Amino acid sequence: MDLKQYVAIVPDWPKPGIKFKDITPLMANGEAYKYATDQIVTYAREREAEVIVGPEARGFIIGCPVAYSLGVGFAPVRKEGKLPRETVKVDYGLEYGKDTLTIHRDAIKPGQRVLITDDLLATGGTIEATIKLVEELGGVVAGIAFLIELTYLDGRSKLDNYDVLTLLEY
Ligand code: PRP
Repeated sequence: MDLKQYVAIVPDWPKPGIKFKDITPLMANGEAYKYATDQIVTYAREREAEVIVGPEARGFIIGCPVAYSLGVGFAPVRKEGKLPRETVKVDYGLEYGKDTLTIHRDAIKPGQRVLITDDLLATGGTIEATIKLVEELGGVVAGIAFLIELTYLDGRSKLDNYDVLTLLEY
């Protein structure tokens, strides 16, 4: 299946010069959403993932159906001030902005094999921060899966030491 036909390219959003990749048409198509999810589920099995971790908000959209399909847990990574119990946090730079990400301190057990999921690899700042959170808790990053990679932003160079799957490249 050609998944690219379900990604809408929106010029100059949210800022001039950004070509936003809108995955909502893919999510709206049950067959396409399942096809993409199934590929990441297969990858997660190969990497022997024991828990899925994804950054808000679109990392949830990719990661939660994978967790459900595997029958493993999902741990959300959220912007600061959103998680109610004890967290660890890390500052990070974004394609368009800066922020702080957090995870609950008890979200991952030391030694647990973690699959990180997100919709998009752009500069890699978000995923680099997510990796730091997982590793600070003693998790092992078994793999990282994206729906989309923007190869021209070279986020991949931040992930040299990790196993990465991307389904679509731009
Ligand atoms: C977007 C996207 C990735 C990240 C990629 O999330 O969903 O998480 O940016 O960019 P990077 O590789 O340069 O870090 P955003 O922060 O816009 O949050 P959202 O999913 O809640 O809209």
